[in-house]
Amino acid sequence: MRLIQLEDIGVVFPGRVLFEHIAWAVFRGQRIGLVGVNGAGKSTLLKMICGDFQSTQGKIVLARETTVGYLPQSGISFRGRSLFAEAYSGLPDIPHLQEQLDAARAALADDPASEALLELTGVLEHRFHMLEGYRAEAKVAAVLGGLGFKEADFPRSTDEFSGGWQMRIALSKLLLRDPDVLLLDEPTNHLDLKTVVWLEGFLRAFSGAVVLVSHDREFLDGMVTEIAELAFGKLSLYPGNYSEYEAGREERAELLAKEQEKIDTERKHLGEVCRAFQVQSK
Ligand SMILES: Nc1ncnc2c1ncn2[C@@H]1O[C@H](COP(=O)(O)OP(=O)(O)OP(=O)(O)O)[C@@H](O)[C@H]1O
Ligand SMILES: [Mg+2]
Repeated sequence: MRLIQLEDIGVVFPGRVLFEHIAWAVFRGQRIGLVGVNGAGKSTLLKMICGDFQSTQGKIVLARETTVGYLPQSGISFRGRSLFAEAYSGLPDIPHLQEQLDAARAALADDPASEALLELTGVLEHRFHMLEGYRAEAKVAAVLGGLGFKEADFPRSTDEFSGGWQMRIALSKLLLRDPDVLLLDEPTNHLDLKTVVWLEGFLRAFSGAVVLVSHDREFLDGMVTEIAELAFGKLSLYPGNYSEYEAGREERAELLAKEQEKIDTERKHLGEVCRAFQVQSK
């Protein structure tokens, strides 16, 4: 199923074309590595897909009710809640439902004879059960643990965590939210090897689509099934992982060099013919 469609997308800054005429579709289940040199526009492209940045040309169409989760490359800062509460708030629906259920139970405790409150509590409990609300805390603990947090960290305030750990908090919220599309901008930058391996396993089991910017070739090799390369203002797609893309790139460069050699030879030959003609016509 097609989740995202980019139609003739372009970003032009005053005096500079970042990229132009980009057409691209992202499907459910795809795991794509977005690569390109520094400044090629990878972060800008991800920001555009999640709506944080307006393109100057073209449009982006999302399939109905598609949810997109975005991990920015930098600038993440959580404040004011405990680590566990912050991660828990990433779960879709459950935190709100939990609040409603707590309120209904409290009201029922005050007025045990109320049939309306009894019915409401029953409905909310059923919904909570359907959404696996009783497993929610265990899920949060598993994701936080996978991303390298210790149980002793759970009650600590998010204010206490440094930049790399702030990124892990954002990542844990995104994974718990379980959106249709995950856009991850350099997620492994601040991660140790054990956490990278855990994340790789988690994302491989993820059923939505993943678009991943990473300079970690081993991670890309283990994770992605397709490479999207931003180069010279254009997006090109290559099936396979990073090593396959790189091998193909060498082949393409050799082919290009051979083409260039052929052009140079023809140009030289043409020059000789022209000179011979000029000599003859004198
Ligand atoms: N408002 C702007 N005006 C002009 N240039 C801009 C503006 N905003 C961003 N840029 C430039 O656009 C380019 C693309 O930046 P972007 O961060 O998307 O690249 P990137 O591929 O993610 O790079 P990196 O690998 O370093 O993260 C950069 O060279 C940046 O300086
Ligand atoms: Mg970037």
